[in-house]
Amino acid sequence: VSNMLVDSFGRKHTYLRISLTERCNLRCLYCMPAEGTELTPSPQLLSQNEIVRLANIFVSSGVNKIRLTGGEPTVRKDIDDICLQLSHLKGLKTLAMTTNGITLANKLPRLKECGLTLLNISLDTLVPAKFEFMTRRRGHERVLNSIDAAIELGYSPVKVNCVVMRGFNDDEICDFVELTREKPINVRFIEFMPFDGNVWNSKKLVPYSEIMDIVVRSGKEFQRIQDHPTETAKNFRVDGHQGTVSFITSMTEHFCAGCNRLRLLADGNFKVCLFGPSEVSLRDPMRHGADDTELKKIIEAAIKRKKAAHAGMFDLAKTPNRPMIHIGG
Ligand code: GTP
Ligand code: 5AD
Ligand code: SF4
Repeated sequence: VSNMLVDSFGRKHTYLRISLTERCNLRCLYCMPAEGTELTPSPQLLSQNEIVRLANIFVSSGVNKIRLTGGEPTVRKDIDDICLQLSHLKGLKTLAMTTNGITLANKLPRLKECGLTLLNISLDTLVPAKFEFMTRRRGHERVLNSIDAAIELGYSPVKVNCVVMRGFNDDEICDFVELTREKPINVRFIEFMPFDGNVWNSKKLVPYSEIMDIVVRSGKEFQRIQDHPTETAKNFRVDGHQGTVSFITSMTEHFCAGCNRLRLLADGNFKVCLFGPSEVSLRDPMRHGADDTELKKIIEAAIKRKKAAHAGMFDLAKTPNRPMIHIGG
């Protein structure tokens, strides 16, 4: 595709994250406030047809990977139809999903038939009681079953996202690494990021360097795997393990220079960076009759306004954004 979505720093945007819903069947501490968040009234959320129409504009402009997020994408009743339609977009190579795995296991065979090619599953603790504290809901075992179901269905690598919070799960780092001994999964330790309404403070952030120290002190041999310039993760092979271990260092070593990501939110807003309040509605012009060329102009103009990098750890915590539950990561 010649007409790439390029920003003023020359970054090509080939990866679109679509948040399908603001709802979730968990209430994770790091993602949303205990009282929940105000939900966009459903007529103002994108319909399946609107999602597919916008996705088609992005894919015909150079996007080759779509990741479905939420909220929790699997709570949408039309999730398999959405996958089916998106997977047929000409030029799309990867249709991925990030999910909490609560209801995934029985839906997965159908989702695979509908063209879902890659799976990231969130799991922040291996201790059931801590799971309940962190997510304010039950379901630890269901998540573990979903991870196994994904492996059995041939998803590879199944990525397991673990947000590390000091005093909560930083004592489980070695246990998570151990999990990769027999399971062919990619465990990813994620630095805790600030969003509106989450419980972030700098003390709860466990920097990558510190997680790495813990791993090294445990005597594990780690070898760096060359990662792709657009990747969020630093990846490592572990001696004798089937799986791999990675670090997503958004706070202490951001990877904005290689950013190839764009975001479409459930309410139809387009967001060029995970951070910062800058958003533009694609839903409104679309509902007022804009054609694809006009929508593409709005998209390109927003991309040209994208900043070189996020504001840095301390400013981020002070800059208004949305709650993570509305952005989908
Ligand atoms: P892959 O497609 O497998 O590389 O996944 P991903 O890392 O893009 O997506 P995932 O939804 O699994 O997100 C993992 C973590 O990376 C979450 O904490 C996201 O919030 C974070 N993340 C994803 N994209 C970005 C980004 O553009 N910037 C920053 N700073 N963090 C991101
Ligand atoms: N910091 C870092 N990662 C987060 N996620 C959700 N909230 C945060 C946060 N505050 C992760 C989820 C999910 C992915 C989309 O983002 O665990 O795996
Ligand atoms: Fe891209 Fe913004 Fe994430 Fe940096 S913080 S990698 S610019 S989305």
